Amino acid sequence: MEELKTKLLQPEEVGRAAELLAQGEVVAFPTETVYGLGANALDPEAVAKIFAAKGRPQDNPLIVHCTGIGQVEELVRDIPPAARLLMERFWPGPLTLVLPKREVVPEVVTAGLDTVAVRVPDHPVALRLLQAVSFPLAAPSANLSGKPSPTRAEHVLQDLGGRIPAILDGGETGWGVESTVLDCTTWPFRLLRPGGVTLEQLQELVEVVSRAQHAGEEPPRSPGMKYAHYAPEAEVFLVSGPGAAGKILELSEAFEEKGLKVGVMTWAERAVLYPGLTVLSMGHEGDLPGLANKLYHLLRRADELGLKVLLVEAVGEEHLGLAIMNRLRKAAKGREIST
Ligand code: TXA
Ligand code: MG
Repeated sequence: MEELKTKLLQPEEVGRAAELLAQGEVVAFPTETVYGLGANALDPEAVAKIFAAKGRPQDNPLIVHCTGIGQVEELVRDIPPAARLLMERFWPGPLTLVLPKREVVPEVVTAGLDTVAVRVPDHPVALRLLQAVSFPLAAPSANLSGKPSPTRAEHVLQDLGGRIPAILDGGETGWGVESTVLDCTTWPFRLLRPGGVTLEQLQELVEVVSRAQHAGEEPPRSPGMKYAHYAPEAEVFLVSGPGAAGKILELSEAFEEKGLKVGVMTWAERAVLYPGLTVLSMGHEGDLPGLANKLYHLLRRADELGLKVLLVEAVGEEHLGLAIMNRLRKAAKGREIST
């Protein structure tokens, strides 16, 4: 791939970013969840550049970002009333809806599926950018495929510097985990990826089956979910249950004896349980939004510290905990221990 000089653009340079996008280039931009790598969703050649820059498998479809319901209507064939209700309640915001696509949406965006994932991001810079261009933006998270999603412009630069022409810097993103992905082509709706809008919030309004409930059913509806994701270089172990601290101490001793650099990820209040160990603080105990916000930064931090093993205390799976545990499980690649 040709080496590019990646420009860092300030929010007031939205116009410059829009020009690049109109020329068929890719640009990274902030959303309320994580940074996205955008391209004109209606231009297959521009979208192909997203896959090339990220090293993303071609069979993993992209989310199309829109200015509002009006623009979404140009891309999808039908909006069931229950889906419209969710749009009105949660947009702009971290909820992605999978709907039957219209002809205009190129195959490269949807990886050949007859559905398209759409959302309206709740970020002033993203919305200004979407309004400045006349087309919707296909955008996956702006990380190298398999790496934790970027929540700061510098994360994007680490992964994609030299591979993309520009990053629109909007500072730190708010939520820190990606949007919730909901399949609205079946009834009840199916949760494909837990995210910023919680399962509990959705179930207050419409019927939704969780991933646990529809796991094992025919082909994976969200192709992206089958890839290892969110993984730092360090081996992650996810430890749950009342004996978690004891287990983590035992494991850390065993790994340190082998000469491996070990870190522990735990709530600030529990750091005292791990004297002498490198602790990555998850913030105040039970503050799930706070943890979601720093989760990917902590995983990247583990690599910066040169950790070979990261022992992580599991959290409860209520509310945002479901999205957090989903990402941690992927990072752990099956290394899960319950006590
Ligand atoms: O918060 C977010 O959603 C961020 C920001 C940038 O908007 N984007 C993001 O995109 O996380 P990405 O590409 O990393 O994840 C998109 C997920 C993948 O799991 C993909 O398989 C799924 O959405 N997806 C996309 N189109 C789909 C479709 N038509 N049917 C089912 N799943 C789809
Ligand atoms: Mg991603």
